[in-house]
Amino acid sequence: MTAISLSGIEKSFGATSVLNGIDLDITDGEFLTLVGPSGCGKSTLLRILAGLEAPTSGTVEIGGIAVNDMRPARRNLAMVFQSYALYPHLSVAQNMMTPLKLRDLPFAGRLPLLGPFFARTRYKAIMEQVRDTAQILKIDHLLDRKPGQLSGGQRQRAALGRAMVRKPVAFLMDEPLSNLDASLRIHMRSELAELHRALKTTFVYVTHDQAEALTMSDRMAVMMDGQILQLGASDEIYNDPRELRVAEFVGAPKINLLPGSLDKEGHAHCLDLPLSTCHNRCPCRVGQYRIASRDICRLCDKDVSESFSGQVVHKENLGADIYLHVAIMNASQRLVVRVSPAEGRTVSFGQTVHVRRERGQAMVFGKDGRRLELSRSLAEDVAEVA
Ligand SMILES: Nc1ncnc2c1ncn2[C@@H]1O[C@H](COP(=O)(O)OP(=O)(O)OP(=O)(O)O)[C@@H](O)[C@H]1O
Ligand SMILES: [Mg+2]
Repeated sequence: MTAISLSGIEKSFGATSVLNGIDLDITDGEFLTLVGPSGCGKSTLLRILAGLEAPTSGTVEIGGIAVNDMRPARRNLAMVFQSYALYPHLSVAQNMMTPLKLRDLPFAGRLPLLGPFFARTRYKAIMEQVRDTAQILKIDHLLDRKPGQLSGGQRQRAALGRAMVRKPVAFLMDEPLSNLDASLRIHMRSELAELHRALKTTFVYVTHDQAEALTMSDRMAVMMDGQILQLGASDEIYNDPRELRVAEFVGAPKINLLPGSLDKEGHAHCLDLPLSTCHNRCPCRVGQYRIASRDICRLCDKDVSESFSGQVVHKENLGADIYLHVAIMNASQRLVVRVSPAEGRTVSFGQTVHVRRERGQAMVFGKDGRRLELSRSLAEDVAEVA
């Protein structure tokens, strides 16, 4: 078992604190993504795990052994960078051989007389390993080419291949797809997920792209300001965010947010419409709340009761769906309404539309951004309004 464990990791660069107490256990063989906005400390955390950066405090363990003082090469982790970092003057095969040849150098030096024999046998073994790996990555026909003669996706695969031949205990990947064009990136996402299933090796993957994290990982850790806000399976993070910042960061289109409030009598209001009384002793207090929900609105006719009107300020055509951005409440609030292409075609920019609220999953966040556990009655009220 080569589970990885990070505990109490803090990192400061001078007076700047970048990581503030990270605790993270990575199971052997899982695909874990560190996702968060730019500058939140993802790369720093990955570099600490790789041994390229020392934590200010905290412990890194691999397979139950503290490795804080272990050199990066001895940790047997393979790092794949956004920039590929291939040697431009070497062929793909030579690039892929490099880690194996480097590893064997001390051994060859100790047996000078038998050197040529060992070198030949070893070369054959290494070449076999390179070919096997290249086959998995579907670049076996490109082994003689130089990196400059490859497409972005092929270069990325060669860089992965060079990491794979070492049979590391884990792959650490820092935004490995961000240099690729959009369609290749989507293609490579499924290839990486497939590769992970085939290799059954731990992947720790860094990205600022929430869609990448949602589509590929077993679990994702949402990071902000040097902390992990939430760690969980992709659908748990999407459907059950514990904080407003997580809810707003994950998911496309962005979650719809409506202002809501509770008055002294326990009456809840949302969109200026009263909800029925909150009878139970739920943790809600009088005050302002934000009510969030995904996919909550539908277009409707003008005379549908409790519908509200708004102006279409943007129309996003995604092919299978169209997202209408509708400004409501004197344009101070925007909602995204998902419609079918047929429905979307009838609506134009600037048009006034009527929106009806759907009974759907709604969440209430307090002023501090924390998700509130609602009593059933209020949760039902909110779902009805949102
Ligand atoms: N060597 C350094 N010296 C000083 N500050 C640093 C150093 N390395 C990183 N930082 C700072 O630490 C913070 C986190 O950086 P990091 O590279 O980990 O972010 P990130 O989440 O990977 O962002 P991105 O998505 O843009 O790659 C940033 O504010 C960055 O400026
Ligand atoms: Mg980074």
